[in-house]
Amino acid sequence: MPVWRMRDFHDDDLDQAIQLWDQNGMDARAMPVFPISEVIAAARAGQPAVVAVVGDELVGVAVARADGDRAWVLLVALAAGWRQRGIGSDLLAELERRLRAMGVRRISALLPAEAAGTAALQNAGYRARDGLVFYETMDHVPAADAGLLDTLGGRVLPDGLWGSMAGMEREKEIVERRIVLPLKETELVERYGVVPPKAVILFGPPGTGKTSFAKAVASRLGWPFVELFPSRLAAAGGPAGLATALREAFADIVALESVVLFIDEVEEIASERSGMAADPGHMVTNELLKLIPGFRQHDEHLMVCATNSVRSLDPAFLRPGRFDYLLPIGPPDATARAAIWQRYLGPAAESVDVTRLVEASELFTPADIEFAARKGAQAAFEHEVVHRGGRPASTEDFLVAIREIRPTLTDAMIRDFEEDMELYTRM
Ligand SMILES: Nc1ncnc2c1ncn2[C@@H]1O[C@H](COP(=O)(O)OP(=O)(O)OP(=O)(O)O)[C@@H](O)[C@H]1O
Ligand SMILES: [Mg+2]
Repeated sequence: MPVWRMRDFHDDDLDQAIQLWDQNGMDARAMPVFPISEVIAAARAGQPAVVAVVGDELVGVAVARADGDRAWVLLVALAAGWRQRGIGSDLLAELERRLRAMGVRRISALLPAEAAGTAALQNAGYRARDGLVFYETMDHVPAADAGLLDTLGGRVLPDGLWGSMAGMEREKEIVERRIVLPLKETELVERYGVVPPKAVILFGPPGTGKTSFAKAVASRLGWPFVELFPSRLAAAGGPAGLATALREAFADIVALESVVLFIDEVEEIASERSGMAADPGHMVTNELLKLIPGFRQHDEHLMVCATNSVRSLDPAFLRPGRFDYLLPIGPPDATARAAIWQRYLGPAAESVDVTRLVEASELFTPADIEFAARKGAQAAFEHEVVHRGGRPASTEDFLVAIREIRPTLTDAMIRDFEEDMELYTRM
């Protein structure tokens, strides 16, 4: 008697099924033809899907999709310790029974030569056909992802966000070299054995452009951008709820074909654990720690976490193996401020002395400069509406705006940031 049992796939099997898929798909040569998002969508839509279980453990899963009298086997995956025992053949037999009952007469499967399911197919009497070539073409957001993206509140960002980041040349260069290029230049990456990043942390004072950088990276890669809001997940119900909500969100996210996952203010869910097991924050931090390795196994998945307070993050979170890089996004220096002023002054750049604005906005972040530029333009506009003299925006309009805005940065924040840079930067 076999120790495994066959039954239909349930939604509760999802986590374990994804893990199996990961085990079977990690090797690039054994990468399944049908992406997990498609497999799950088929199973959830009521297409034949069966699992083999031993006790509570899921040791095999097989999914097919029928279309008239023809069906495709989308997935046959077996747990590492359970291959070569006949589970694959049993799964196929179960699938076939369901397919035949639906009127299917021809069943095909398309698997990488090294995939776990090939032995099962051969044992079950499937004939391999030589001389076929597999062709495919792909839009960036596959139809199967579109609905999921919607649920997650994700979207594909417009092109050109990278180009709209003014100044910050140092940061741009690092982000480009460490993050964008290794994810874009897939062929060179392979040739040189470069390991592309899966997860990075951007740290630095508020308003310096961490969120903007994350979006700019997604824009350059052409991958959809999904932001996880810990506060919204928490609203799903209490601290235990947050850990669960986080796990569910990750299960959906890893099913996407490609994604830049952004978690802002990550210190809210990954701050240093108090050491008390009953601490509710503890559970959430632990959950996130557990989720990262699974996330890291998917190609075309990048997690970007941002924080104003890298020093309050749990040390376990920062250990190598979880995040590839910890990159500082600092306050803009004079050159960067000049570029940012130029960018936001628009036509006023013709009539004002940018150098004086740069000097007067020493502790300003890009966000502060954006706001000051807007305020100055508004003042010049209002003056013109009253006087109708045709006076262009003046340096003074913007200096007044600068004086009215309290800069985000303080000397203490800059000192802290410099210390953090010494201690935490990893690039
Ligand atoms: N290099 C830049 N060039 C032009 N605008 C910028 C630049 N960096 C940031 N900004 C603008 O500043 C504003 C704030 O930037 P952003 O939200 O990315 O900062 P942040 O570091 O994520 O801030 P927070 O810590 O508050 O989340 C945005 O409106 C963005 O357009
Ligand atoms: Mg931000």
